[in-house]
Order: sequence, then C-alpha cells, then structure tokens
Amino acid sequence: MAFLLSGCERAMHDMYNQAKYKPGSPSPLFADGRAARRPPEGSIPIAQGELAGPSSGRLGHIEPAPATSSNGNPYPITLAFVQRGQNRYEIYCAACHGLTGAGNGMIVQRGFPKPPSYLDPQLLHASDAELERSISDGYGVMYPFAGRVNEHDRWAIVAYIRALQLSQNTPADQLSPQDLHALGAGGANSP
Ligand code: HEC
Repeated sequence: MAFLLSGCERAMHDMYNQAKYKPGSPSPLFADGRAARRPPEGSIPIAQGELAGPSSGRLGHIEPAPATSSNGNPYPITLAFVQRGQNRYEIYCAACHGLTGAGNGMIVQRGFPKPPSYLDPQLLHASDAELERSISDGYGVMYPFAGRVNEHDRWAIVAYIRALQLSQNTPADQLSPQDLHALGAGGANSP
C-alpha cells in the first residue's frame, strides 16, 4: 500500500510543476504566434498604481529599501521587535520554512516545493534589504506578502530570521561563559 501511495505522490508532481507559458514565450495557438494575450479593454493592472502595494509590494515602481542602520534594518533591534518577528514568522512563514528555518514545514512535507534553509550560504550572506524584498515581492514560487504583512512586521521577521541564523551558526568562541554554561558546553556537541 505504501508503495502504491508513493507512486501516486510522484505522479502528482505533474500538478505541482505544471506546463505553462512564461512571459514573452511564443505559442502556436494564436495567429500572432505569442502566448501573451492583450488584456481586455478597461483592465486595471495590478502591478501599477494603488493596487500595486497589496499585490506586489512594489507600489508601481521598485523602491530602494530604506536602510538607516548598518545592518540594513531601519528599526532598532529590541527584544520586543524580534519577538514580534517570531510571532509573525510562526503565523506566516513556518508552515513552509519550518520553525527553525530549515525549509521543512508541514506544507513542504505535503509536497510544496522545498525552500532553501536560512543557513544556506546565499541566505546567510543576503542583506536584510534583500530578505525584506523577497518577503514583500515574493520569490519564485513563494507568493508576495506585502498585502498580508505590513512593512514594520516584514522587518521584524527579517530580524527574527537573523536570530534563527545566529542560533544555529555561532562559533562557540563568540559565546559568553554564561551562554556556554547554559548550553552545557563541554559535552559531546561542543566544537
Ligand atoms: C507556501 C510556502 C511558503 C511560505 C508560506 C513562505 N515561503 Fe518563503 N519560500 C518558499 C519557497 C518554496 C521558496 C523558494 C522559492 C524558489 O526558489 O522558487 C522561498 C524562498 C524564500 C526566501 C529566499 C529568497 C531569496 O532571496 O533567495 C526567503 C528569504 C523567504 N522565502 C522568506 C519567507 C518569509 C519570511 C516568509 C513569511 C513571511 C515566507 N518565506 C513564507 C515557500 C514559502
């Protein structure tokens, strides 16, 4: 039975990664040879004007991310700010990215494409502004969050992603003796 189900799961991937036309691709279906169709008269673009914020986060143009502190986060990094980020992260992100950011959330376990771990070197080295932009505008198969998570909370989430990265990637010599003690350093897991 397990064998049959795993075969079914494999076939279903055709539904996750469906055949589709990408912007600008040709198509033999239409007389002009283009896949893209002209929007009907009177259509309102969602990536321009007032609707752009909630739909794409871009407000009709690409804004340079505000950067007023050295790490790029325009808000002071306080405990309350990071806790707000944790709270929003667990609501909006953990279902896919997992509670530790490993990319193994429940939706992924049920077949959604797996996001990279936040410990992926590319994401360790991404600037805060790049992370905020990916949350706001979406990235690849991940939809944009600008319409669901406001600007303050997006930066709070970025601060929390930094905390998640630090929590799993800090060399022991950067920890205080109290931290090491709390971790039970000296045991089998100490570096
Ligand atoms: C429905 C599942 C899902 C949810 C919910 C989700 N993500 Fe993602 N995320 C993904 C996937 C999948 C990718 C990889 C996309 C790709 O490469 O096409 C990704 C990529 C990313 C990246 C990497 C982008 C880059 O610049 O390389 C970041 C950062 C990220 N997500 C943060 C978040 C945050 C923060 C939230 C919550 C506000 C969130 N995601 C919610 C699935 C999700």
